[in-house]
Amino acid sequence: MSDHCLILCYFMLLLMISLSTTSGSPAGTKKPKKYVVNLDIAPEKRWNQVAMDHAEVIKDVHTIVTSVIPDVLFPYIERIAAYIDYYLQNPYAGEMRGFATALNISVGDVVMMNLVYDVSAFCTSIISQDASGQIWHSRNFDYNFTDILRNITIAVDFQSGGETEYSIITFAGYVGAPTGQRPNVFTVTVDERDKGSIIWNLVIGILDKQVSPVSFLVRDALAYDRNFSAAMDRLSYTTTAANAYFIMGGAKQGEGAVITKGRFAPDDVWKLDPASGRWFLVETNYDHWTTPPPRDNRRDRAIKAMTTLGQKNISVRNLFDVMSTPKVLNSRTAYTVVMSAVKPSLMQTWIRL
Ligand SMILES: *[C@@H]1O[C@H](CO)[C@@H](O)[C@H](O)[C@H]1NC(C)=O
Ligand SMILES: *[C@@H]1O[C@H](CO)[C@@H](O)[C@H](O)[C@H]1NC(C)=O
Ligand SMILES: *[C@@H]1O[C@H](CO)[C@@H](O)[C@H](O)[C@H]1NC(C)=O
Ligand SMILES: *[C@@H]1O[C@H](CO)[C@@H](O)[C@H](O)[C@H]1NC(C)=O
Ligand SMILES: *[C@@H]1O[C@H](CO)[C@@H](O)[C@H](O)[C@H]1NC(C)=O
Repeated sequence: MSDHCLILCYFMLLLMISLSTTSGSPAGTKKPKKYVVNLDIAPEKRWNQVAMDHAEVIKDVHTIVTSVIPDVLFPYIERIAAYIDYYLQNPYAGEMRGFATALNISVGDVVMMNLVYDVSAFCTSIISQDASGQIWHSRNFDYNFTDILRNITIAVDFQSGGETEYSIITFAGYVGAPTGQRPNVFTVTVDERDKGSIIWNLVIGILDKQVSPVSFLVRDALAYDRNFSAAMDRLSYTTTAANAYFIMGGAKQGEGAVITKGRFAPDDVWKLDPASGRWFLVETNYDHWTTPPPRDNRRDRAIKAMTTLGQKNISVRNLFDVMSTPKVLNSRTAYTVVMSAVKPSLMQTWIRL
């Protein structure tokens, strides 16, 4: 009798566990590991836990990175590494040095990893304003080497005095911010724009001390800008090594934009305009006023999915579903994020398996 009861209880428990895991993480996804990086301690020590937890995988990444970067650039990268404090601003220089020490690899290797990720990939970002006026931001991050990236995708809260200043989704070993949120101020993502040899531009730009790697600039905005328009200005008018799309969502109605960034200034700023029916903006990797190549129709699929969803239907779950539309979600998608600056605790990331 009591045996039966125990067995029954056991199955009930299993059922409950499986139900709760399905509702917590949709099929084919998992949550990234979460870290707190303490801004009140030295840059060299902040990432120690992340480095320790990912030491083996980060070393794999290094093998790939050396195969992607043209050999002719190695001497230049060695030069940047040798004078890292001169060429790269803090805290990035210190944080990269910290990774090198913790992983027992050269600073040059860490610099190389960071440069490769700055060439930030084929992505889809969508800004939308729901029927109540709340701004939402969703993105898929697509890149090569997806199997490895899925293993090192992490969610990081940067804290000072125990408060979260800003949060990013990034890869262990990488100190830039491809996806971020400053609570109650703005959310931001970067999509790749360039067609040229970006790594070359990036390395030469850094040697000139003229330019900011794109994702360091985004982290600067998250760290220093206290309102939407200040962040828009920084991202628009700072010289960057590469062209990029900066997709921005604010905390107030109407605060949503896609900055099509040339190296020195924006080529275009495209804004939400819900009053005239433009309640969402989709940016993939093409200028929004041009037609994407037929072989890459992520944009049209995403627009169709948003239109079908409708402005009244926006929620974390429904935006996740939009980002899961075939083609928008593809074999190179490493992760999906949904966030809303005005409700920072909604921020959710799913690693796609
Ligand atoms: C660091 O790596 C070098 C070789 O690159 C090795 O000789 C040394 O033992 C390593 N140190 C630690 C603490 O693992
Ligand atoms: C990524 O893969 C595509 C196609 O497979 C290739 O054309 C491209 O050069 C790769 N990019 C890098 C950085 O390896
Ligand atoms: C990713 O992690 C899983 C589980 O830890 C491991 O089995 C797999 O080999 C890793 N993949 C890569 C490409 O590192
Ligand atoms: C935004 O921040 C900038 C710089 O901190 C400040 O000069 C500006 O007045 C602020 N704008 C608004 C609308 O609060
Ligand atoms: C909500 O979205 C579903 C499809 O996801 C659609 O069938 C339904 O009509 C939408 N409801 C509203 C109120 O827009």
